[in-house]
Amino acid sequence: MQDHVIITARENRVGIITLNRPKVLNALNDEVMNALGAALTAFDADDSIGVIVIEGSSRAFAAGADIAVMANWSYSDVYSSNFITRNWETIRQVRKPVIASVAGLALGGGCELALSCDIIVAGRGAKFGLPEIKLGLLPGAGGTQRLPRAIGKAKAMDMCLSARMLDAEEADRYGLVSRVVDDASLREEALALAASVASFSASALMALKECVNRAFESPLAEGILFERRELHARFATPDAHEGMRAFMEKRRPVFEHR
Ligand code: CAA
Repeated sequence: MQDHVIITARENRVGIITLNRPKVLNALNDEVMNALGAALTAFDADDSIGVIVIEGSSRAFAAGADIAVMANWSYSDVYSSNFITRNWETIRQVRKPVIASVAGLALGGGCELALSCDIIVAGRGAKFGLPEIKLGLLPGAGGTQRLPRAIGKAKAMDMCLSARMLDAEEADRYGLVSRVVDDASLREEALALAASVASFSASALMALKECVNRAFESPLAEGILFERRELHARFATPDAHEGMRAFMEKRRPVFEHR
């Protein structure tokens, strides 16, 4: 599928979504977020896809929500249309692993979009920031909540209040990103990681993602109980039996993704 503001492609079990508004550094307007949400939903429902990768251009993953559009909105507009919630949060419904492949700028909503993904692979030249305060706004696509959970209050407050950008090495040190790779090999590395993850049992990956996300939503004892029940449930699946049998038989497992 190819349209104006995003491009989708697939490589074996990996679905790839490329943000495609290069002239405005992939600023995220409704058209982009609706198309991104539709593409995420379609890949999530597609049994032949195991992992989804979101990428931007070499200059910008995304420079945030589209300021040119927002500048005209009133409180009544954003409240009644449920700005952000109405289409940015589709990614929260996605059950398959989503990898952000970040080159260049990931600012404001672009940084928040990356933070909504499960793994962030960053090129060495990537920059992360939440500069909304410079506009008299605040990070409103989960930034004030996900960033402190990712890097702690001290660093998150610094980034939000001062609008300071982190380079990829700093972002890696603070735990904002999962891996840093050379810019030249970013796409290759992100897709190789995606292909490797996608080779595992899709149902086990979904359960695992749900368990890790539960860590941010519940007290430890509840999270541990949830994890334990999900582990127990794996024993009812063909893939767990195939995975353990393949190990015993010293061969590669053939997963049904069930
Ligand atoms: N929205 C709309 N247009 C944007 C944009 C954005 N977030 N970011 C960049 N652009 C546009 C610029 O207006 C410019 O367009 P024109 O060529 O038509 O003038 C084009 O992209 C290229 O940008 P610059 O010329 O500014 O490029 P630069 O290299 O000099 O600067 C930059 C790059 C530092 C990223 C600068 O563009 C910038 O500060 N952008 C805004 C970043 C920002 O504030 N993001 C947060 C947005 S608010 C938000 O995201 C709210 C939320 O929580 C959901």
